[in-house]
This record gives sequence, C-alpha cells and structure tokens, in this order.
Amino acid sequence: MRALSVQIFSSLPLFLFLTSFKLLATASPAPSPQSPAPAHGPPPPTPSSLPHRILAGVPVVDTPIVRDAQAFAKTYSPGAYNHIMRCWLWGVLHLQHNATLAAQVDLEVHAVGLMLHDIASEHNLSHPFVSPNRRFEVDSAIAAASFIRSHPDGKNWPDWRVQRVWDGIALHAEPKFTLYKEPDVFAIYWGNELEFSYGRPGGERKGITEEERNRVLIEFPNDGGGPGGAGPNTGLLWFIAWYCKYKPESTYDNWMQSYGDVVPGYSPVGHRLYDGALATAGVNVTGLVQ
Ligand SMILES: *[C@@H]1O[C@H](CO)[C@@H](O)[C@H](O)[C@H]1NC(C)=O
Ligand SMILES: *[C@@H]1O[C@H](CO)[C@@H](O)[C@H](O)[C@H]1NC(C)=O
Ligand SMILES: *[C@@H]1O[C@H](CO)[C@@H](O)[C@H](O)[C@H]1NC(C)=O
Repeated sequence: MRALSVQIFSSLPLFLFLTSFKLLATASPAPSPQSPAPAHGPPPPTPSSLPHRILAGVPVVDTPIVRDAQAFAKTYSPGAYNHIMRCWLWGVLHLQHNATLAAQVDLEVHAVGLMLHDIASEHNLSHPFVSPNRRFEVDSAIAAASFIRSHPDGKNWPDWRVQRVWDGIALHAEPKFTLYKEPDVFAIYWGNELEFSYGRPGGERKGITEEERNRVLIEFPNDGGGPGGAGPNTGLLWFIAWYCKYKPESTYDNWMQSYGDVVPGYSPVGHRLYDGALATAGVNVTGLVQ
C-alpha cells in the first residue's frame, strides 16, 4: 500500500504533498473549510481579465490551477474523465447563454468544481480518495479542497472560494439544497445536471444548441464508462448501484437508496433513520399513518 502510494504520487506535480492526503484515508468527518462565504467578500477575478483557450469550440478559462485540475481529474478519475470534461463544457455553455448568471460566477471556482466533482467516484475501494463509508460526493469535495490548498495558486484562495467548490461538489446531486445556494454552487450543479437532463424528454437545455452539444460530444465522446455513459453496463443506474453494493452505508438515507433495487441482497431495512428507535420500542410501523 505504501509503495503503491509513492508510485501514484511520484507521477504528480511536485506541489502535491503526501501530508495533504493523509487525512483523506481516514473516515473522520469531512474537513470542510470553516469560514462562511462573506456577504461582501473580495470579488472574484473579472472573467475578461482571465486567459482563455478554445476547447470543443468553447472559450474556457485557462489558468494554472484550472489546467492542473484537468490533469488531476485525468489521473484520478480516468473512468469519469470524459463525463467530467463534458460537464465542465455544459457548464460553460450554460454561462455563455446567460450573461446575468455569468456575471455572478467565479470561472475558476466553476472550472475546478466541475472538473473535480467526481474525483472520488471511481469504482475502486483502493483509490486514494475513495472512503469505505462516506458519500462519493463528500469524498470528492474533500479531495478537491485538499487539491486547492496544496496548489501554489490555490493556497492563496480566500476560504470562501474553497467553500464554494466544496459545496458545489458535495451538493452536485442534491438540487433541493443546491438550487437555493450561491450562483457558483448552483452553476456547478447545472453543469453536471445538463449531462443527464439535455437528452431527457422535457429536460433542461439552458439554451445550449444541438450544434454546440455535438461539438462537445465529438471532443469528449460518451462511449461508455462513467456516470454519463451509454450502454447496458454503463449509465447512471449501473454507476450508482455500485455504491449500493460496495459502500452501502453511504446510500441508505438518500437519493442513491433506490438504485439498490437492482443489487441482489441490498435492503435499507434496518438502516433507515427510524428503524433503530421504533424497532427498540417494538412498534409495528406498517400502516402507522392512515
Ligand atoms: C439567468 O440567470 C439568472 C441568475 O441566476 C436567472 O435569474 C435567470 O432566470 C436566468 N435566465 C434564464 C433565461 O434562464
Ligand atoms: C485501484 O486503485 C489502486 C490505487 O490507486 C490502483 O493501483 C489500481 O490499479 C486500481 N484498480 C483499478 C481496477 O483501476
Ligand atoms: C403490522 O401491521 C400490519 C398492518 O396492520 C399487519 O398486517 C402485520 O401483521 C403487523 N406485523 C406484525 C409483525 O405484527
């Protein structure tokens, strides 16, 4: 295990220190950044002041931390890489089609958040960021905050920027919270959501045209693998059912639970929030509320 870790880390840029990942291996509570986002914090860099490059026909922000986040995603999320890149681009296209929202979003927070939103989603319990029990969104948020804090530029980010990345990643599958949070946070949600919603009858498109979408799909094909993959052994059902099978504790009380229907032997009974107290009291809950 130690030799393995050294091998992994030696292939990374020097700025990644082993120490910053030590805490990831434990099952202790998530070290989320402590300070709340200030109401009048330092403003993010104005979008036009940041360098850009063209990717799949889309102008995307191009700074060292954004480039390094992409390399980090490729190294640690090979299975979800194309999905991740598409989500970033769906997110950027969403902003391009809504100038009001674009003016409220920090492009580096948005890029890092979307590219690292599934950094701990690999179906691999030996993966350095995958815990045995935490939700994959939380594992990903912790790894992303750690990446930022270990980065020469990220070190200087005020806490509220790290917090927005953390929240955007941890809540990226929880619209009932996310949609009421800061634009940085719900813009990250939409980048991922458009991957699934766009092709659904009546789904959201946020102004993205078929032509724009096709350019992204040519650059980062949806050819199986990852949560957005197509095919019998791919796609979201298959992707999430893995957590029900191998990290069941992370699934019983939330949106992932129903994906367990396709996993033989999986049952939330006994793990539901009410099971403990009522079972102890001997209450028969069937038909409790008429
Ligand atoms: C654009 O974004 C703003 C700010 O989030 C939102 O209020 C507005 O509804 C959006 N416009 C469209 C057309 O979606
Ligand atoms: C799982 O992760 C470990 C540690 O990063 C790695 O050595 C191994 O190759 C991975 N297994 C698969 C099937 O990708
Ligand atoms: C629980 O209540 C239901 C509905 O009233 C009843 O059919 C069932 O037999 C009860 N189960 C037990 C273990 O008493």
